[in-house]
Amino acid sequence: AAPRRMYHKNVLDHYNNPRNVGNLPKGDADVGVGLVGAPACGDVMRLAIRVNKDGVIEDVKFKTFGCGSAIASSSYVTTMVKGLTLEEATKIKNTQIAKELSLPPVKLHCSMLAEDAIKSAVKNYRSKSLQDVAAENAAA
Ligand code: FES
Ligand code: FES
Repeated sequence: AAPRRMYHKNVLDHYNNPRNVGNLPKGDADVGVGLVGAPACGDVMRLAIRVNKDGVIEDVKFKTFGCGSAIASSSYVTTMVKGLTLEEATKIKNTQIAKELSLPPVKLHCSMLAEDAIKSAVKNYRSKSLQDVAAENAAA
């Protein structure tokens, strides 16, 4: 009998060859970092974006301590967000990720982790730029 396939080929590809693995220095003013966990299983994803002055994501890196679907979801989401504006990036839905990777229902929360991670990275970046504005105003 053929071996039972646990994962769809798109998941396996991103799992075996994850794109954009790594870190960006969180101290950099143009970097936003999102760190999120999945309550359902305890898996953790860290995603960092570097944003240019036009508000476009020009670099993105991730590290995921989690299952194959979580790693594949984060890898796929990094390929999606590069070149997007912050606005566009926050509109990414986990259902898009789950669909592309053909995740089964029990693995939907793994793609949710990727959606949460990008939202959290954008929020972190925005809170940093607000601090910059506040500092400028205070100096003025
Ligand atoms: Fe933790 Fe997915 S349950 S690896
Ligand atoms: Fe929990 Fe995938 S992130 S099983």
